Amino acid sequence: MALRDIVKEGDRILTKKCRPVEKFDQKLATLLDDMAETLKLANGVGLAAPQVGILRRVCIVDIGDEEGLIELVNPEIIESEGTQSGAEGCLSCPNEYGIVERPMNVTVKAQNRNGEVFTIKGKELKARAFCHEIDHLNGIIFKQKVERMLRPDEIEDD
Ligand code: CO
Repeated sequence: MALRDIVKEGDRILTKKCRPVEKFDQKLATLLDDMAETLKLANGVGLAAPQVGILRRVCIVDIGDEEGLIELVNPEIIESEGTQSGAEGCLSCPNEYGIVERPMNVTVKAQNRNGEVFTIKGKELKARAFCHEIDHLNGIIFKQKVERMLRPDEIEDD
């Protein structure tokens, strides 16, 4: 495994629509392993392949619950329900947070690293993370959907 550099806002790669994964090979496995290591070190809850410079429909989510790391290849939101409004950030936009409205519940259909199709549900933070990461695969950053950015005095320190 190896760490990959996280692309920052302003890089045009983050505005591009990613292509589907067609080959479920060792290269994909290595990408997913590297993304997991990169996400863990950055202390994030999600990371999309374009954030490490790869324009493929791959993302990972780990909100720190019992479900652990979720790998999503070619993900699609097939159902969404309700709304939630809350603070959101992005590893490509360090120290910036904004209020974004997202669905409260989503169902995502995706493939795993072997190409097997599965569906997974997420609510609250997990639904938010799924939506945020899948947006990245379509060249969309959370700041394009933000109701308002938080002021520095509204951001809690960890
Ligand atoms: Co992001």
